[in-house]
Amino acid sequence: LPLALSDRFGRRIEYLRVSLTDRCNLRCVYCMPEAGVPFENLDNVLSFEELVRIIRVLASVGLKKVRLTGGEPLVRKGVPELAAQLMAIPGLEEVTLTTNGILLERDAQGLWDAGIRRLNLSMDTLQEARFEKLARRAEFARAWAGLETALAIGFSPIKLNCVLMRGINDDEVAAFGRLTQERPLSVRFLEYMPIGEVSPAQWRAHYVSNEEALATLQRLWPDLETLNDSPESTSRNFRIPGALGTIGVINPISHKFCDGCNRLRLTANGKLVPCLSDNFEYDLIGPLRAGCSDQEILEHTAAALVHKPIQSDFEGRLSRGGSLRMMSQIGG
Ligand code: GTP
Ligand code: 5AD
Ligand code: SF4
Repeated sequence: LPLALSDRFGRRIEYLRVSLTDRCNLRCVYCMPEAGVPFENLDNVLSFEELVRIIRVLASVGLKKVRLTGGEPLVRKGVPELAAQLMAIPGLEEVTLTTNGILLERDAQGLWDAGIRRLNLSMDTLQEARFEKLARRAEFARAWAGLETALAIGFSPIKLNCVLMRGINDDEVAAFGRLTQERPLSVRFLEYMPIGEVSPAQWRAHYVSNEEALATLQRLWPDLETLNDSPESTSRNFRIPGALGTIGVINPISHKFCDGCNRLRLTANGKLVPCLSDNFEYDLIGPLRAGCSDQEILEHTAAALVHKPIQSDFEGRLSRGGSLRMMSQIGG
C-alpha cells in the first residue's frame, strides 16, 4: 500500500484534475471541431458517488487538490453538491474549478456555499464579436456576467485563461494588461498546445510564444514587477505597478514546467491519464465497477503513474504525425 503517490522520477502527485463531462456549451476553435465530437455514453461516465470514493481513497495517500474540469464542468447537474462532498474529504485541502463562465450566474453562489474559494475562467478575448467567432456561440455577455457574479461573491483569486493565437487574439495583450489594472483578476496567457485534431501547419500558423506577450508587456510597462510563484505553478506571474490584478504566462511549449509536475488526470469515462501530452490512459472504471477494494484503487493508480513521462514532447509527437485526445475529453 503506497503511503504517498509519486512517479518514477520522484515527483509527488498531489493534484488531480477531474473531467466531469466531455460535453460543452461552447465550441472554441482550439478545443472542439465545429460539428462537435461524439459524446461519451452516459452509462460510461463516472457517477458522483464513484468520484467521491476515488478521491477519498487518493486523499488518504496525500492528494491535496482537486480541480474540476470538462468539457464544461457546470453542464453536469449538481456540481455544487459534488464540490461540498469533496470539501468534506479528510486531507483534501482545496477543490477548484476551471469553467467558461456561461453557467456561473446560476452556480457561483452554490459553489461558494460548498466551500470553493477560487476559480479559473477561460476568457480568450475581451471583444464580443470576436468571442462569437472564437467560441462559435454568441455568449460573450453571459460569460462576462458569470465573471461579474463570481467577483461580486468574493472568489479570489479569479484567474482568466487566455489562449493566445496568431491572427485571432494576439493583438489583445495590452487590453488584458489594462484589465488587470482596473479589476482584481489574474490574467494568464496560455501557449496554444497541439491537442486534438490539429495539423502541424495549422498549429504552427496559430502558435504564439509567450516571449512575445512578455515583450509586449515589458515594453508597455517597463517596471513590471515579478511575483514569486510556487515550484509546481504552471504560470509565471507579474504585476503592473499599482494594478489590482496580476498578469502571467503559462508556457507548456517554450518553457516546459514538467519538472515540478504534481498532476494526475481522471477522464469523465473513468480513465487515469498520467500526462496531458500523452494518449496513454489506464482503465479505472472497469475494476471499480467490478467491485475492487480501496487498496486496489491505490494499486491501479500507482500502476498508471509508472507511465508518467519525464516531460512533454508536443512538437515531436506532432512531427511524427500523432494526435492527442481532444481537449474536451481531458479538460486541459
Ligand atoms: P492553478 O491551480 O490555478 O495554477 O491552475 P492550473 O494552471 O493548473 O489550471 P488551469 O485549468 O487554469 O489550466 C491552465 C492552463 O495550463 C491550461 O492550458 C492547461 O491545459 C495548462 N495545464 C495545466 N496543467 C498542465 C500540465 O500538467 N501540463 C501542461 N502541459 N499544461 C497544463
Ligand atoms: N492549448 C492551450 N490551452 C488550451 N485550453 C484548451 N485547449 C487548449 C490548447 N489547445 C485551455 C482552456 C482552459 C484551460 C483548461 O485549457 O482555454 O482555460
Ligand atoms: Fe506534467 Fe505531462 Fe503536463 Fe509535463 S506535460 S507538466 S509531465 S502533465
